[in-house]
Amino acid sequence: MASVVVVGTQWGDEGKGKIVDLLTEYADYIVRFQGGNNAGHTLVVEGKKYIFHIIPSGILYKNKVCAIGNGVIIDPGVLLQEMAELNEKGLPVTPERLLISSNAHLIMPYHKNLDLAREASLAKGKKIGTTGRGIGPCYMDKVGRVGLKVGDLLDPSLFSDKLEAAVEEKNFILTKQFGAEPLEISAITDAFTNYAEQLAPFIGNVSITLDKARKAGQNILFEGAQGTQLDIDHGTYPFVTSSNTIAGNACIGSGFGPSHIDEVIGIVKAYTTRVGEGPFPTELPEGDEVGDALQAKGHEFGATTGRRRRCGWFDGVVANDAVRLNGLTGFAVTKLDVLSGLSTLKIATGYDVEGVKYDYMPENVFKAGQARPVYEDVPGWSEDITSVRAYEDLPQSAKDYLKKIEDVTGVAPAMVSVGPDREETLLLRNPFA
Ligand code: GDP
Ligand code: IMO
Ligand code: MG
Repeated sequence: MASVVVVGTQWGDEGKGKIVDLLTEYADYIVRFQGGNNAGHTLVVEGKKYIFHIIPSGILYKNKVCAIGNGVIIDPGVLLQEMAELNEKGLPVTPERLLISSNAHLIMPYHKNLDLAREASLAKGKKIGTTGRGIGPCYMDKVGRVGLKVGDLLDPSLFSDKLEAAVEEKNFILTKQFGAEPLEISAITDAFTNYAEQLAPFIGNVSITLDKARKAGQNILFEGAQGTQLDIDHGTYPFVTSSNTIAGNACIGSGFGPSHIDEVIGIVKAYTTRVGEGPFPTELPEGDEVGDALQAKGHEFGATTGRRRRCGWFDGVVANDAVRLNGLTGFAVTKLDVLSGLSTLKIATGYDVEGVKYDYMPENVFKAGQARPVYEDVPGWSEDITSVRAYEDLPQSAKDYLKKIEDVTGVAPAMVSVGPDREETLLLRNPFA
C-alpha cells in the first residue's frame, strides 16, 4: 500500500498526464487536488491522444476511481463536456468511476469574464498571460469567503442566495471598473440547474473516501497540475497561477493527512518550457536556433490555449527548488528523446544576478528576470532513442546527462520518458512497489 504524489517541477506541461496515466496501472484512486481547467494533461495510448483539463488522468482505466478534491476549482460545463467526450469514446464516466468533492469551488461565468477583463486592462509587461479560464477570480472568491461550492448545487435556495449576492458585486466591477457587459442571473441559474442535475450523483466526500481506501490498503495517486514555479507562494509571483501547486497541497486539496504520503515524484522535462509571461532564466528566445528546434521537435504548443511555449535549457536551479519545496523522492524525466541530435547540451547550475551568485530562484521577480544562468556543457547524442525501453540501451551520453541531473539535484530518476505514448517509458523504480 502506498500514497504517491506527482507534481510538475518547472512551469507546467512537464508530462504529468502521461506519467499519471502510466502509474495508474498500480493505483486504485487517482486524485486531482488543485488548479482547474487551466491544466491540459495529454495522454497517448496506442497512438490515440486524449487531453484532460479537469478529469484526473487515470480515467482511461475502467476499474479505478478518479477523484476531484476540494482544492480543485471546477467549471461544470467543461467537466460535463469532458465526460461527454469520454462517453462518445466508449468510456462512460459513472459515479463509480468519478467522485467530486462537495467542497470544491465552482468557476462561475463571471470569473471568466473578470479574468479576461483584468488581463485586457493590464499594460504590456504587467499581463500574466493567464489561460483566461477564470482561475484567479475564482480562487479570490474562495479565499474571500464568497465562493460557490459544488455542494451548493444540491441546495437550490442557498445557491441562488449566494449567486444573487455574487452577481450584484461582479456586475458592478465588470461594468464600472472594466467597462464590460453585466451578466444575467437567470441565464446562470438555468445553466447551473442543469449542471446540478447531471453532477448530483458524482458529489461526495473525497477526504472520507480516501481515508477508507488507505485503511483498506489501497494505493492512492495524487495528480498535480501546473508546476512548482507557478505556485502562488513559492513561484515567480505574480507570474504564477492562483493555487499552491507543490506537493504539500496534495494533502490540503484532498483532505488527506501528510503522514500518509510515501513518495513524491517530480516530473521534469529534459529541457525547460514556459507558456505565458514571467521570468525564465534559461530561455532561448524565439529566433534562437536551438530554442526553435526544441519548440518544433517537442511540439511545444499549450494543450489548453494552443499558445507557443517558450523553450530553453534544463535549469538545475529550478530543479533544486522543486526538490526542496516538494520533498521529491524521485524524478520522472520526460521528453529526453527531443534532445537527440544536439551535439552539446547545457545545464544551468546557478544564476548570476548583477554579480551575485544564486542557487535558488530569487524571490524578487525583477532579480529573477535579470538572472543569467551559469551553464555546464554536457555532450549530446545523435541516436533516436524513442524505441529504447531499458536504461542500459540508452546512448552513454544520454545516461551521462541523466547522471548529471542526479548529481546537480541529489535526486535520481525513477522514470525516463522517450516519447508521448504510454509504452515509450523506462520504469527504473516503481514508487508503488
Ligand atoms: P502536462 O500538462 O504536464 O500533463 O503536460 P502536457 O500534456 O501539457 O504537455 C506534455 C506534452 O509532451 C504532451 O503533448 C505529451 O504527449 C508530450 N510528451 C510527454 N512525454 C513525452 C516524451 O517523453 N517525449 C515526447 N516527445 N513527448 C512527450
Ligand atoms: P498544466 O497542468 C502551463 C500558466 C498560464 C499563465 C499562468 C497563470 O497543463 O501543466 P492561470 O490561468 O492559471 O491564472 O494562468 O499560469 N499556466 C500553465 N502553464 N501548464 C499549465 O497547466 C498551466 N496552468 C496555468 O499560462 O502563465
Ligand atoms: Mg499541460
